Amino acid sequence: MMKNINPTTTKAWQKLQTHYEAIQSKHLRELFEQDPERFSKLSLTVDDTLYDFSKNRITEETLDLLTELAEETGMKEAIESMFKGETINATEGRAVLHTALRNFTDEELLLDGENILAEVRDVQQQMKAFCDKLHSGQWLGYTGKPINHVVNIGIGGSDLGPKMVCEALKFYQQPGMSIDFISNVDGTDAAEVLKKLNPEQTLFIIASKTFTTKETIANAHTARDWFLKHATDKEHIKKHFVALSTNTAAVEAFGIAPENTFRFWDWVGGRFSLWSAIGLSIACALGYDKFEELLRGAEAMDKHFRSAPLRQNAPVLMGLLGLWYTNFFGAQSHAVLPYDQYLRLLPEYLQQGLMESNGKSADRTGTFVDYETQPVIWGAAGTNSQHSFFQLIHQGSVLIPSDFIAPAQSLNQIGNHHTMLLSNYFAQTEALMKGKTAEEARAELQKKGDKSEQEVEELVPHKVFAGNKPTTSIMFKKLTPYTLGSLISMYEQKVFVQGVLWNVYSFDQWGVELGKQLAGAIEDELMGKTTGNHDSSTNGLIQFYNENRG
Ligand code: F6P
Repeated sequence: MMKNINPTTTKAWQKLQTHYEAIQSKHLRELFEQDPERFSKLSLTVDDTLYDFSKNRITEETLDLLTELAEETGMKEAIESMFKGETINATEGRAVLHTALRNFTDEELLLDGENILAEVRDVQQQMKAFCDKLHSGQWLGYTGKPINHVVNIGIGGSDLGPKMVCEALKFYQQPGMSIDFISNVDGTDAAEVLKKLNPEQTLFIIASKTFTTKETIANAHTARDWFLKHATDKEHIKKHFVALSTNTAAVEAFGIAPENTFRFWDWVGGRFSLWSAIGLSIACALGYDKFEELLRGAEAMDKHFRSAPLRQNAPVLMGLLGLWYTNFFGAQSHAVLPYDQYLRLLPEYLQQGLMESNGKSADRTGTFVDYETQPVIWGAAGTNSQHSFFQLIHQGSVLIPSDFIAPAQSLNQIGNHHTMLLSNYFAQTEALMKGKTAEEARAELQKKGDKSEQEVEELVPHKVFAGNKPTTSIMFKKLTPYTLGSLISMYEQKVFVQGVLWNVYSFDQWGVELGKQLAGAIEDELMGKTTGNHDSSTNGLIQFYNENRG
């Protein structure tokens, strides 16, 4: 059961407000000085991943009160509702069961009388058999050559998850297999990928839950036309095109045979679908076993999420801390900063995961909220980001809570690169926490001895770092499919937690519809099928385009 509570009306919220007033001016430096045990009190380990919350602007009392808020909003019951398959995506009338895709227990999970775990296993078997054929060189292209290049055509959840995972686990890629992704309806995306392909050895995976997404269908047609220019006979499509979809009828209409279709179900949300057939590109790139390891890592995090007390629950604490900064400190964005080049696409992936899920203003009763919900998610890999936007995190006027993510071991041990990388990783959260006082800045300048007193004083304000910038450090031993599965699942469950707290429906995405509707109408106008009249700006832009379209 989901409780439907405006979080600001809870007792815990009032207590948090009072607590915030007491704590807001406390500096993290002070908190660390006061309590040498702060790290051990405010960090936890899940499997081999460490979550260090101690550099957040919290005390143990903050976590106690935030946990009270989670309890008051019915977090435990809500978690059970999701895992049991209740229709918690009410605006679309669906259950939310991506967790079933990585549930390796022997349990049954009945939905409308069907054991969905058995259905999941069937598709997993189909995916495994397909990958085995592909990797053993038994799946041959139309001229009898083995496939060595896979192209995933999809967008949003049918692109970002698989693309991020394939990049993150590139180290484990099957020898001789390469992968590309086409997502944007901008023809440049397809053109740049297609020009490097050999049609005889390329497999196209058309990934679309609905199989109606215009961008994907356009790219799929472009790929098919390109392929047929070389292969000529439509019969060959069978060997080079497979589909991943819930809409098997539309797939067949496109010309992909049912035996080449990997299905999934409407209870898998697009942005939570990499664990389903949508993960076929991952399994093709890495091998099915690695894909299964990814699922097992996610399953381990699911078990932690479902069973750990709220106060020691990583996704719950991550969600609560997000709310703490958004609703009490007024933070409007949150940075995700992976110190691992392989994870460089994680921020982009999480943008959809978090912002498409909780970027909502109507609560679960249909009332417009009078509190903030999802902040902007952004970020990039360290250390590159240190040389671009870190200036603002350190000295800007807005508060940006950040997640710092790093492996203890590098998969590529070259010289002392990893030591240098991690030195930066540790230094940044330390610097953000501590800052540099005016006295310290002054002393440093005076010690250098090349400036007059006046010059020193003029420079001091520019050299001051306020510090007290909150960070959460997430460290694991090594980037493996298992660790990555656990990390992604943690963020997915954070989405769920925040949806419960903010009382919004996390699993629909009506906000993407208006643009789609208008684009459809404008496309007809641009093709001369209809005429339209818009506001003066849109009319002016269309006119400029028509005059210059060539
Ligand atoms: O952008 C909206 C959206 O519906 C996403 O939620 C989804 O991941 C994406 O489009 C792609 O949808 P589909 O897999 O149905 O092509």
